[in-house]
Amino acid sequence: MKNIGRCRAHTNIALIKYWGKRNNELFLPMNSSLSLTLDAFYTDTSVTLDDTLTEDVFYLNGIKQDKTETTKINRFLNLFRETAKDNTFAKVESYNHVPTAAGLASSASAFAALAGAANSAWKLNLDKQTLSTYARQGSGSSTRSIYGGLVEWNMGEGNLSETSHAIEVDDASWDLGMIIIAINKQQKKLSSRVGMRQTVDTSPFYPVWVTEAKKDLIDIKQAIHEKDFIRLGEITESNGMKMHATMLGATPPISYWEPDSVKAINKVKEIRNNGIPCYVTMDAGPNVKVLCRQSQMSDILNKLEESFTNDQLICSKVGEGIRELTDEEWSY
Ligand code: ADP
Ligand code: DP6
Repeated sequence: MKNIGRCRAHTNIALIKYWGKRNNELFLPMNSSLSLTLDAFYTDTSVTLDDTLTEDVFYLNGIKQDKTETTKINRFLNLFRETAKDNTFAKVESYNHVPTAAGLASSASAFAALAGAANSAWKLNLDKQTLSTYARQGSGSSTRSIYGGLVEWNMGEGNLSETSHAIEVDDASWDLGMIIIAINKQQKKLSSRVGMRQTVDTSPFYPVWVTEAKKDLIDIKQAIHEKDFIRLGEITESNGMKMHATMLGATPPISYWEPDSVKAINKVKEIRNNGIPCYVTMDAGPNVKVLCRQSQMSDILNKLEESFTNDQLICSKVGEGIRELTDEEWSY
């Protein structure tokens, strides 16, 4: 038997961040979050069920992965094997069109693509809401990459896994875009997973973070409803800064920033003070993401080019949700 499923998923950048779990095994978050799916970065993944295999095998960008990485894939695919009541092992081939583990959300597109491909390979026909609860258990942020546009990850209730899933809030077709300022594309030293756990366990600011994130989510949904870009940007920037402030309060303190991250933030402020609205957010890495109007992207880009090289600046439109890839589209 050789069933194949293939899927593309785009990364997403949170405007209201997820930073902390209430249940580490089920990847249930402390607060709901909200993101923008990006067109520029994505992962393509194929899952081939093969009953001659005696274990799962995992290739990332054409390179066979070690036991640690393959074990993560194996555990994730077990969710699908249990649902399908079929224990066949799989060959997983994945291609990241995004730097891996650099704070550019490779894990988000990775597990959304893997969930979509596994769903097809096992012919499960799970709907997107259910798939988002599966993707969540590979990496929390991938819950949101199932959908395109502006997406909320509803934190859900108690320990009920099926209640913690993504919802498409808005298709974001109102002149939104994002510029990524790549400060460092190398693999980060502290993963989001470890960083957030340390923050929950040790930062005295953590309870305040949760309260603030909940308020910010209500406010940003109102801004989205009113298509108020300025408010959207202000809340995004403020929420990201509060997350990083909370991390600084951890023991030992956590900072993903580099000197050039600060340079990028100051440049964006300068552009804004000169009349073009644009706002920063940062994740678990030194790279800076600039939320802007798509129609003003080239003006902003011109200004950023005064301080950064061309290959550090990546422009993205709004991305779509997961989709199956045909044989013709699988060009690897
Ligand atoms: P990022 O900011 O890139 O999301 P994380 O530390 O959160 O960084 O996640 C990176 C991890 O996600 C990698 O170390 C790897 O375990 C996993 N990952 C990345 N890309 C893939 C992929 N295409 N398929 C499966 N797992 C992946
Ligand atoms: C800062 O989803 O990578 O990007 O669930 O442990 O895999 P795990 O963490 P991950 O964390 C993302 C953190 C963030 C904020 C966000 O995307 O909401």
